[in-house]
Amino acid sequence: MRTEPKSRFTLFYGNSENDRIIFREKLKEFKNHWPDRLDVHHILSKGVDEDALFNGRITATKAKELLGRFITDALHKEFFICGPEQMMVNVSEALENMGVAKSHIHVELFSTPVATEIKKEAPSQSTGDFAGTATVKVIMDGREHILQVPANGDAVLDVALDAGLDVPFACKGAVCCTCKARVIEGQVEMDMNYALTDGEVADGYVLTCQTHPRSANVTIDYDQH
Ligand code: FES
Repeated sequence: MRTEPKSRFTLFYGNSENDRIIFREKLKEFKNHWPDRLDVHHILSKGVDEDALFNGRITATKAKELLGRFITDALHKEFFICGPEQMMVNVSEALENMGVAKSHIHVELFSTPVATEIKKEAPSQSTGDFAGTATVKVIMDGREHILQVPANGDAVLDVALDAGLDVPFACKGAVCCTCKARVIEGQVEMDMNYALTDGEVADGYVLTCQTHPRSANVTIDYDQH
């Protein structure tokens, strides 16, 4: 904003729900500071806006609708996409289908070939066919909290947040490593891992935003970050 005073910016920002919007207050500040140069549109996967366009995940269809409604002269704009890989693919495809040149589409892709390899190896932490609800003991700041976490539901991080725990997170996309913790009891499985090394995974470290229990009892220690 400061270095390109003649540019205007429109941010389509996906999060799960209003009180989990990362940098929400900072964005408000920016919007107040540059009301004519910055537009921010929040799309919430658990949103309940009366306009359904702002609820749900950013699919190719939704991206097309958002662009059609808020972006004029799209063929002459520059687009910057960052976030979960499938969302980036969806939005890129929507833009290309609209005729936007590839040279105008900029993607911040975290999933390097090395990371993909790590991702494939992540499920090796898992054993057994546990599919029930696990008792997960979360240790944080020296205190223990007991959570009930379904094997096939939300990740441990989301369940902890829903329970009111102040667990650390940022991207929720297996990239930033903010949610890292160590499994000291039980079996777990990660959906994705673009951040931990093979050695860390072997030592029991997990990205809790991607972690699901695979045994009836699991203990996860955030203090061993
Ligand atoms: S919150 Fe970023 S890797 Fe989990």
